[in-house]
Amino acid sequence: MENGEGVKTMSDKSHRKRILVIHGPNLNMLGKREPEIYGHESLAEIDARLQEKGQELGIDVETYQSNHEGALVDKIQQAAGTVHGIVINPAAYTHTSVAIRDALAMLDIPLVEIHLSNMNKREPFRHQSMIADIVAARIAGFGCNGYILALEGLVGML
Ligand code: DQA
Repeated sequence: MENGEGVKTMSDKSHRKRILVIHGPNLNMLGKREPEIYGHESLAEIDARLQEKGQELGIDVETYQSNHEGALVDKIQQAAGTVHGIVINPAAYTHTSVAIRDALAMLDIPLVEIHLSNMNKREPFRHQSMIADIVAARIAGFGCNGYILALEGLVGML
């Protein structure tokens, strides 16, 4: 079923739960980007692991990455009424984006914040998260395994 704007709604086809995983700026460079901090796995490999885990858990997983704040806001707005939960690593926008926070705050579905690194062990500007107080749970410091933990934890909340 589609709403007036051509957006698929939750009364669609299957009864499977749908989870959106959002990756913020520079995460498309994972594997090459500061591997001593972010690890050697590429984003494509992480997304493939998320798809595999989704199948195992019997849910549909969509993954999305953008380097652009407005594109991330658009994607979050489109999630309203179409997904059952969101896992998000806003990357650098974690520390700066009121726009992403406001978009997430409009949703009434569980949100999980995930970071590869433990930001609190890093530079002081990384200690603040604009979304920490509006998400259901946070995971940081487990590298790419954190995405799997976040997905499992989120599904447990649905
Ligand atoms: C990050 C931490 C942020 O401070 C940084 O800007 C990132 C990645 C993480 O996953 O550890 O791009 O969100």
